[in-house]
Amino acid sequence: MSPPGRPKGEYRSAEHEGSSITPPGRPKGEYRSAEHEGPSITPPGRPKGLLGAIRPAALAQPVPRPPLRGTRRVMNTRDIDAVLAIEVQAYSFPWSRGNFIDSLAAGYSAEVLHLLDHGQVVLAGYFVAMPGVDELHLLNITVAPDWQGQGLGLALLQAVQSLGQQRGLAQLLLEVRASNQRALSLYRQFGFAAIGQRPGYYPAAGGREDAIVMRLGLQAHGAA
Ligand SMILES: CC(C)(COP(=O)(O)OP(=O)(O)OC[C@H]1O[C@@H](n2cnc3c(N)ncnc32)[C@H](O)[C@@H]1OP(=O)(O)O)[C@@H](O)C(=O)NCCC(=O)NCCS
Repeated sequence: MSPPGRPKGEYRSAEHEGSSITPPGRPKGEYRSAEHEGPSITPPGRPKGLLGAIRPAALAQPVPRPPLRGTRRVMNTRDIDAVLAIEVQAYSFPWSRGNFIDSLAAGYSAEVLHLLDHGQVVLAGYFVAMPGVDELHLLNITVAPDWQGQGLGLALLQAVQSLGQQRGLAQLLLEVRASNQRALSLYRQFGFAAIGQRPGYYPAAGGREDAIVMRLGLQAHGAA
């Protein structure tokens, strides 16, 4: 990903309100959620009351929690403090406040994803993308570390994909650190292909790190 102000592959735009987002059903990992169906679903470990009396073995099976249900909306400047709080946790070289302010000022597509966690509305993720002539460039896609591995990254990427399709754009482009295995596996799994490399593109501990440039065709994906 690359913050605004970077010459190569700059991005800008913003879109719609209040869409709910439910990550695709995911067997992996515990689902955390707040309200829906919440109280009766017991947290990991020994359940209370009647269930507590049943033989531990029978209870060994992890109790799957209901899928996360989140709400997406367009990012605004009032979100930036909360976004930055996640950004500095998620990256060794985080975007600055200025990067986010410049992105919003320039009209980038930027959205935040909120979840209800035990009655609290929490910011769980966000993305920033810029429409070009016939492409959408994904600048930043981030899930709060506490909520990673639960399908939110995939759900945010699907949201970016549909944004590009709605705009009739032909492709989705991004840069990713060569060492970012988690993101690389998400993008590959999603259908992105590596189309190039940018040597020394990113700051890195003790020097620079290359970027892998990846592309996903949009219309072919959406046409069906
Ligand atoms: C990369 C990131 C956005 C993925 O979001 P996430 O919510 O953790 O990922 P999901 O739960 O949606 O998982 C989707 C896929 O990502 C990959 N993935 C997720 N967690 C992974 C892990 N711990 N190890 C390897 N691959 C992983 C897998 O391919 C996974 O698919 P699978 O669950 O079918 O194996 C998130 O981890 C993140 O914000 N990381 C820090 C910031 C960052 O690196 N952003 C991208 C910069 S290019």
